[in-house]
Amino acid sequence: MKLVAYLSEILGNPIVFCLAVVTSIAAISSRYYTWHLQKSYPRRNNSTGSKATQKRTPGQWTPIDFTVPDPPPYPGWDLKLTKPLPYRPFKYGPNYFITMGLRKGGFDEWIELDNEFLKFHSLKRERIEIRGDKCCKTAPEALDAAIELLEMLCDYLPKRYPSMFVATKVGINNVVTGEEFDIIHRPLSEEPMRTIARLLQDDVAIMMEGDDGQYYLKSGSILLPGFWKLEDKFNMSLSDIHTSGNVPQFKEKLEKGMTNFFRRVMPNDMVLRNNYFIQVDDNLAWSDSIGSEDSDNVGWFSAEKHKIINHHWFRSERQSLRRLPRSGGVAFTIRTYFHPVTDIAKEPYVPGRLASAVRSWGDDVAVYKGRELYQSVLLEFLDGENQKQIDEGTIGDGKSHKSYPF
Ligand SMILES: *[C@@H]1O[C@H](CO)[C@@H](O)[C@H](O)[C@H]1NC(C)=O
Ligand SMILES: *[C@@H]1O[C@H](CO)[C@@H](O)[C@H](O)[C@H]1NC(C)=O
Ligand SMILES: *[C@@H]1O[C@H](CO)[C@@H](O)[C@H](O)[C@H]1NC(C)=O
Repeated sequence: MKLVAYLSEILGNPIVFCLAVVTSIAAISSRYYTWHLQKSYPRRNNSTGSKATQKRTPGQWTPIDFTVPDPPPYPGWDLKLTKPLPYRPFKYGPNYFITMGLRKGGFDEWIELDNEFLKFHSLKRERIEIRGDKCCKTAPEALDAAIELLEMLCDYLPKRYPSMFVATKVGINNVVTGEEFDIIHRPLSEEPMRTIARLLQDDVAIMMEGDDGQYYLKSGSILLPGFWKLEDKFNMSLSDIHTSGNVPQFKEKLEKGMTNFFRRVMPNDMVLRNNYFIQVDDNLAWSDSIGSEDSDNVGWFSAEKHKIINHHWFRSERQSLRRLPRSGGVAFTIRTYFHPVTDIAKEPYVPGRLASAVRSWGDDVAVYKGRELYQSVLLEFLDGENQKQIDEGTIGDGKSHKSYPF
């Protein structure tokens, strides 16, 4: 478990990171996990969403007629008042592996929007204009999957967020931004991943199964990734994405389990997980302290060391994975939560727990996460805030294992 978690953590980018963790879990506890998912999912049509596909011809998918119950409106959702959910997916050391938070999700909670929607939306709009298909594109063989995902969102969002989205005869309107999207008439007015980008705070990626049974990154809207670029990974297989990220022992330990997991994920499964990084600049879209987005040579080596604490940002992704029933694509959503470290450190237990987690990274993880650049400033600050919380009596001896459920 520890080894696998370690492998997962040192992966080179968020999608890789997600995939490997999924794989790790699948490899270790596939029987329990599959059982657990299929036992407990809400299904309107119970006979089809979980159909076994082990005997499928690789690359072929028979459309499944699968729908989930309509989601209820997000409780009390308000564009101005609903705050980003406080995901703090790190735990006390010394066992680093327990920070993995793979869990089953409900379909209702597929997409999370909050009072940062408009900020994300305008940043995405700007980047679509400037960077275009470097950030949003779809291979022809994934077009149906991208449209299917768009259709699912046009169904889901007005039910979940009725104060912002309304369904129309031809698609969906955003009554806040005034945008109207027609997804019925052809040709579509824009590439579907761009439309998806405008509807969500999340980045999105679709993996398609090839004739060789491998999964390929064939469609994406990757506008706020921080540390990786769609153009670098587009059309790559999961294996190549991992190999290019120099994942140790990927071939020996992970590849087979991962392929099996992907082939097994069914429309009635929904997988969620969260991860976290420290970033030493405040750029949500692209962490420019590791280099320019247009440079081929980016990495922690170019970042300035020992920046003051106000430049330390906590970046956490909440990822979902599900199978698209018609096209057979596997859709990821990657939602980034991004806060100054100084803000989250005000929360009870957080400074102590984060400091302990950062200290628990093994050497290679630390290299991957760039710890050397910020650890002295970050840990000194967190230790001080933790001590304050102890002195104020907020957190007892500070050793409680109270934690967020992620
Ligand atoms: C479930 O889907 C199958 C295949 O589309 C259909 O034949 C069947 O009537 C559906 N059952 C229910 C309960 O909706
Ligand atoms: C599907 O649902 C029907 C009606 O609720 C039930 O009778 C049947 O046993 C279910 N089938 C499976 C495979 O769960
Ligand atoms: C995508 O990758 C496959 C091989 O994996 C290759 O045959 C194909 O030409 C690639 N497509 C593009 C657009 O690069």
